[in-house]
Amino acid sequence: MTGNRFPFNIPAFRHGINLDLPTPVTFFVGENGSGKSTLLEALAEICGFNPEGGNRDHYREAREDRSELAQALRLSWMPKMTEGFFMRAESFYNFASYLDSVSNFMAYGGKSLHQQSHGESFLALFQHRFEHGLYILDEPEAALSPQRQLAFLRIIHELEVPRHAQFLIATHSPILLAYPGATLYQFEEEGIREVDYHETDHYLITKEFLNGPERILGYLFADEDDN
Ligand SMILES: Nc1ncnc2c1ncn2[C@@H]1O[C@H](COP(=O)(O)OP(=O)(O)O)[C@@H](O)[C@H]1O
Ligand SMILES: [Mg+2]
Repeated sequence: MTGNRFPFNIPAFRHGINLDLPTPVTFFVGENGSGKSTLLEALAEICGFNPEGGNRDHYREAREDRSELAQALRLSWMPKMTEGFFMRAESFYNFASYLDSVSNFMAYGGKSLHQQSHGESFLALFQHRFEHGLYILDEPEAALSPQRQLAFLRIIHELEVPRHAQFLIATHSPILLAYPGATLYQFEEEGIREVDYHETDHYLITKEFLNGPERILGYLFADEDDN
């Protein structure tokens, strides 16, 4: 591997990346800056998606000049899906433009994605357009209220149960992470480790907080109160 420069300087990648994707739904969790988006980009590249976000690009699929991280990734799995898309965390707006430009927007519930709210357009995308496919999604919860996150879980269920779809999702959402039967990979200093939902910080901290916000906030602001 290539020493101390990006992306191999990311602690989770230092010892190589061997990923098994045994279930139709895989989540990637970890601190901000732990490498989730970087890994999703490399996975998208390997699967032939445009790294800017979007659907598959067959020109790219045939390319030899893969990024170093994509070359270093050891996947015990290759996608069987030929459809789907890669959604970067920050590019939903561009992605909506792209879809508007290439497709009949009637397919998205009869309205341009730009004329719907962020969350509405995101759900419309799945409900009206996508069925079979590989979906690589970076923090989709940014577009979704808690209610819509539940609706999104239902959509995942409808697509993955008949084995029509595979989802690779980076998320901080304790709601999305609860999806039954998903594989959870946590990015740590020592590498990428499979974890149980109930041992993630996302679950533990959210649960603790919601059990007693006043108590947690009391600890958090204790120094200020002392002054
Ligand atoms: N193109 C780049 N060049 C150099 N460093 C980068 C680049 N992209 C991301 N990084 C760094 O790599 C680390 C992981 O970033 P990222 O994959 O975006 O983390 P996450 O998605 O888990 O928050 C961060 O420290 C980030 O600053
Ligand atoms: Mg990220």
